[in-house]
Amino acid sequence: MGKITNIGILTSGGDSPGMNAAIRAVVRAGIYHGFKVFGIRHGYNGMIYNQIKELKSHDVANTIQRGGTFLKTARSKEFMTPEGMEIAYNNLKLNKIDALVIIGGDGSFRGALEFSNKYDIPCIGIPGTIDNDIFGTDDTIGYDTAINTVIEAVDKIRDTASSHERLFFIEVMGRDAGFIALRAGIACGAEAILIPEVETPIETLKEHLENGFKRKKSSNIILVAEGEKAGGAFEIAKAVEKDFKDYSVRVTVLGHIQRGGSPSAYDRFLASRLGVAAVEALMEDQRSIMVGTQNQQVVYVPFSKSVKAHKPIDPKLLELIEILNV
Ligand code: F6P
Repeated sequence: MGKITNIGILTSGGDSPGMNAAIRAVVRAGIYHGFKVFGIRHGYNGMIYNQIKELKSHDVANTIQRGGTFLKTARSKEFMTPEGMEIAYNNLKLNKIDALVIIGGDGSFRGALEFSNKYDIPCIGIPGTIDNDIFGTDDTIGYDTAINTVIEAVDKIRDTASSHERLFFIEVMGRDAGFIALRAGIACGAEAILIPEVETPIETLKEHLENGFKRKKSSNIILVAEGEKAGGAFEIAKAVEKDFKDYSVRVTVLGHIQRGGSPSAYDRFLASRLGVAAVEALMEDQRSIMVGTQNQQVVYVPFSKSVKAHKPIDPKLLELIEILNV
């Protein structure tokens, strides 16, 4: 591999709080180690449409606390075609960019894996998604902030739920994974969670609610991950409502509020740490890996592994919800 002098950085897929902190860390670590760093706008599309500009240290000043991504993001279909990749590669060469750092989720890493297999451009991934569904890293940037947003909202809903003695189904994000529902569910004292990874027959849920009613619980909060197989919070609420006619049922969908806001201290810390690690990985001649953390330590995980395996849900955490609702 040739010597790296110029690093390109982009954010791709759904945005997450802390992406700006990660960009800042890559820019500053790059400059610190003697590289030039170039911001690529609108994800992989920016490589195709040549939206590439050098970033200096002052360009990332005052960004660590901001949600979203100032480089903008996209899910690029064009990049996933051979023609798109070739145009992207030619534009990188035009700008003399010889390495890439990609902040995003597993879809973005799949693109990076294919690109680095095809072209002589080392690619380093930084996990950024609120879903925390990337195999090989304990946490992804944005997950902690999203959970804090969820519990803040659920705490408010709990006030009105218990005043009216209502049952609430609250839908949280997580198209393919239930990590938001799981950790937020534990943190807000949810009575149950419904997630894509575990099938919960509607009868089991009803039994569970029945027990709660017998114990005269004044409110019930069920967190439903949007990818839950029974069809989302509204469908489940309808099915439950039929059998609990005396009970007042409401549904709230938290939606994109979970993706915004100023990143938590933990997400800023994680983003800063992984941004620096990404530059160091390039200096160590890594070329197709994600930087992540396992047991509080920075690790390198090959893209081939992180995009293929499914991150498992810890069954002990599921049990916690049950134990805490005795
Ligand atoms: O991948 C992050 C995520 O927020 C998912 O939890 C959610 O299903 C999806 O993005 C929503 O995507 P969009 O913003 O395109 O509607």
